[in-house]
Amino acid sequence: MERASYEQMSPMGLAEADAPVRQPTPTPAPRKAPYPRPRVLGVVNRKGGVGKTTTTFNLAGALAEKGHQVLVVDLDPMGSLCRSLKIRPEKRTLSDLLVGLSGSLGDLIRRTEIPNLFVIPGDPNLRTFEMRHSGSVEYRDVLKRQLAEVLRWKPFPFVIIDCPPSLGLISGNALTASGEVIIPVDGSTYGMGALVDTLRVVKLIQANVNPDLSVLGLLLNNVDLGTGYDRTVLEVLRQQYPGLLIQTVIPTSPESDLSAQMGQPVVRYAPESWMAKAYHQFAEEVLARRPGNGR
Ligand SMILES: Nc1ncnc2c1ncn2[C@@H]1O[C@H](COP(=O)(O)OP(=O)(O)OP(=O)(O)O)[C@@H](O)[C@H]1O
Ligand SMILES: [Mg+2]
Repeated sequence: MERASYEQMSPMGLAEADAPVRQPTPTPAPRKAPYPRPRVLGVVNRKGGVGKTTTTFNLAGALAEKGHQVLVVDLDPMGSLCRSLKIRPEKRTLSDLLVGLSGSLGDLIRRTEIPNLFVIPGDPNLRTFEMRHSGSVEYRDVLKRQLAEVLRWKPFPFVIIDCPPSLGLISGNALTASGEVIIPVDGSTYGMGALVDTLRVVKLIQANVNPDLSVLGLLLNNVDLGTGYDRTVLEVLRQQYPGLLIQTVIPTSPESDLSAQMGQPVVRYAPESWMAKAYHQFAEEVLARRPGNGR
């Protein structure tokens, strides 16, 4: 898990010097939107390091590779997603906008180097937004309102929101703005408690703020199904959350860090890898689900 500040970012990431010379991947042509309405997917888990950012980056990359336009929103003050996308926040920031300073969310959208992939960068002051306004009802649906405006003039078929490892105002805003939630889980013992907490908050949001929210699924990430321990984790999750587990399992792969450092989703960085194949399969699963009721 990287914990560098924006000031410490190298514009091209850590591995630039070792970059292999590779053929440019052909640009996938944009496709017609597959759904009548944009799908907004929140990626949430209270636990840190379970793969929220990895999931956002690589699912977005796989959907973009298939020709779907994707907008990702970096709601983590740590800015890991933007670091992977080689994007720095500009003068006007998401945190300014969420507290009502002038401007609109659409002005923050940036094109990335990945065809069909756009981003709204986060910024470190999102942390202040959460601390100052967590008690205030006024701010709990501010992202939803702003995003609805963006999607009226530019209906991205997919919006994917990367959240910080907490269940406060920021993740609450993401869940309020989302139609579906993806919960990456890593199968560690401590992760189970965080999963229970995360599902409890999803239920609270469904009951009080966003009845349209559905759980797209739990995504088991960073596991080696060759080991008995991880196979048991898979079985336990299947039994405890029947029907909630996403079929695709993302294997532990060295390409996870490497592709993020190179600023390329794994489907572009290492298209033949197991991880890339898993993300293609996951994207197909997402595309096969009917939005609205999630499953
Ligand atoms: N399938 C995987 N195989 C190997 N490494 C992985 C895998 N998934 C994630 N990782 C690595 O684990 C670390 C944490 O992942 P990531 O940053 O996506 O988690 P996160 O949930 O977003 O963390 P945070 O809550 O701190 O934002 C990263 O270094 C990432 O590359
Ligand atoms: Mg993250």
